[in-house]
Amino acid sequence: MTDPSALIGDDDQDLRPAWSGVRRGPLVEGERVSVTDPKGRRHNVKLAHGAQFHSTNGLIDHDLLIGGPEGVVVPTTLGVPHIVMRPILEEYTVSMPRGATVIYPKDASYILMFTDIFPGARVLEAGAGSGGMSVSILRAIGEQGQLYSYERREDFAETAKKNVEQFFSGEHPGWSLRVGDLVSTYGGEKVDRVVLDMLAPWECVDVAHQALEPGGWLCVYVATTTQLGRTMDTIRAHEGWVEPRAVEVNVREWHAEGLAIRPGHAGRGHTGFIIHARRLADGVTAPLKRRRPAPGAYGDDYDGPRPRGVTMPETRDVDQD
Ligand SMILES: C[S@@+](CC[C@H](N)C(=O)[O-])C[C@H]1O[C@@H](n2cnc3c(N)ncnc32)[C@H](O)[C@@H]1O
Repeated sequence: MTDPSALIGDDDQDLRPAWSGVRRGPLVEGERVSVTDPKGRRHNVKLAHGAQFHSTNGLIDHDLLIGGPEGVVVPTTLGVPHIVMRPILEEYTVSMPRGATVIYPKDASYILMFTDIFPGARVLEAGAGSGGMSVSILRAIGEQGQLYSYERREDFAETAKKNVEQFFSGEHPGWSLRVGDLVSTYGGEKVDRVVLDMLAPWECVDVAHQALEPGGWLCVYVATTTQLGRTMDTIRAHEGWVEPRAVEVNVREWHAEGLAIRPGHAGRGHTGFIIHARRLADGVTAPLKRRRPAPGAYGDDYDGPRPRGVTMPETRDVDQD
């Protein structure tokens, strides 16, 4: 894969801030633009001299766009106006080729802030899936940071590699992609942050604890309530963490025109839950939670990990006296 500095040269650095995936200045052949029709439908188009964008609304010659600015409104041959812009990371994440489901931008943005992912951070991620979260993490940590991404499926790892390299126009200097199961192939690296997005993240709580520095943050993204419960109780039962916290991020778009101000009709349904926990120092165990679980929370029907201090059903009455 080509080194982006070889592609653009030192003089172009101000047109293309290093490892941002962003390009400024006139549109050039080979880059992707987002062409939006009057109904708001977005089309991802790779610019090439002599090529045309085709839709039921007519055609647009790419040569009308190359060399000009983004942010233009261009009529098709049938006179239908289209807006041309460079796609941002959010658009790239939801439109890139994928094998595994990506973490959606509303959740990825929350993860970056609340996992406190910073420039220069060392981060471990599993699984890499389609590389959606990898791109966001790499952009946040920059070239001084280090991201170790584990993916146990070779085909998904290949997709992740292509998506990350396409976004940054080259091999990001801070990225190591490892094909293998995190538990059996963990390389011993010490990190500041861990992000897990997989079917059975509770299997990786111990290795995340090994990898994290004291005070480091673990973030787990899960889709279902059963995964949520098992992960939270595994973290509690492990005892090397501060009490975990779980959230769901809901974003509601609003319509505001004149006096018609109301929630928009469009919206995304459930995507996932985000769990956060902070690692304690070696040899330190989490203090017992002072709040009692709801009656039945860990009753006869519960067969998951049991946090320390949780009373068994038959002794609960006595304990409560
Ligand atoms: C939902 S996808 C991750 C998507 C990714 N976060 C993104 O935004 O593109 C889950 C991935 O985890 C991988 N996986 C599951 N368990 C794993 C493990 N223990 N170690 C490494 N990868 C794992 C799966 O193969 C799958 O590709």
